[in-house]
Amino acid sequence: MLRTYLPSPFIHLIADSDKRKIPMHKPAPTDFPVHDLIRDRWSPRAFASKSVEPAVLGSLFEAARWAPSSSNEQPWAYLVATKDDAESFAKTLSVLVDFNAGWAKQAPVLVVAVSKLKFHANGNPNRNAFYDTGAATALLSVEATARGLGVHQMAGFDPAKAKEVFDIPADWEPIAALAIGYPGVPESLPHGLRDREVAPRTRKPLTEFVMSGHWGHTSPIVSR
Ligand SMILES: Cc1cc2nc3c(=O)[nH]c(=O)nc-3n(C[C@H](O)[C@H](O)[C@H](O)COP(=O)(O)O)c2cc1C
Repeated sequence: MLRTYLPSPFIHLIADSDKRKIPMHKPAPTDFPVHDLIRDRWSPRAFASKSVEPAVLGSLFEAARWAPSSSNEQPWAYLVATKDDAESFAKTLSVLVDFNAGWAKQAPVLVVAVSKLKFHANGNPNRNAFYDTGAATALLSVEATARGLGVHQMAGFDPAKAKEVFDIPADWEPIAALAIGYPGVPESLPHGLRDREVAPRTRKPLTEFVMSGHWGHTSPIVSR
């Protein structure tokens, strides 16, 4: 059983015994209905120690593979480290900022997402490389949700150090790190992070970023 999301005033209603045992489930409180996989994806910091089967990880990267990209360039690469590959795992952990390393070390899988900055065919700059890598990683995250996994993306890492420790070529840029694993219990986290783990998920209102006609004019699609 997964602990369902409760708005913060009601968090105290969860029985103490449950608090110790049940991984968080934080479905998005949406204004319009969305697919369950979109609603249920979120970024956990607590992970169970259970390893992720290689075939399941394969499906995650297969999902990334089928993302759309500008000119079908597919300008992404992923450096994957599972915990049983102690050397790669330690290398990946070493490039994270301390805050992220503190919780991400519990995840059974760490990944660095890397973008190719120039088009393969002509060497011209690819201004969509980060966009496309983000799209691929978004699909990976949705596939992970479908398989009961959590993915937590991180900008808090040292790209220069990542380039050095993984020997990444000059025309590729590390853009994000990912922690992947089955959900753990918030109680496995230090106190400050525990509160953030159970905090409600928030978003800007749709009326702030869906526009029609001219900049700043809220689209009637979302103003109701
Ligand atoms: C590109 C990117 C970078 C992020 N960097 C960090 C990070 O360094 N550390 C962290 O704890 N969370 C990080 N996050 C997680 C976000 O804080 C999180 O996605 C956001 O608060 C929304 O929460 P949700 O994913 O649970 O809906 C990052 C997310 C993305 C997409």
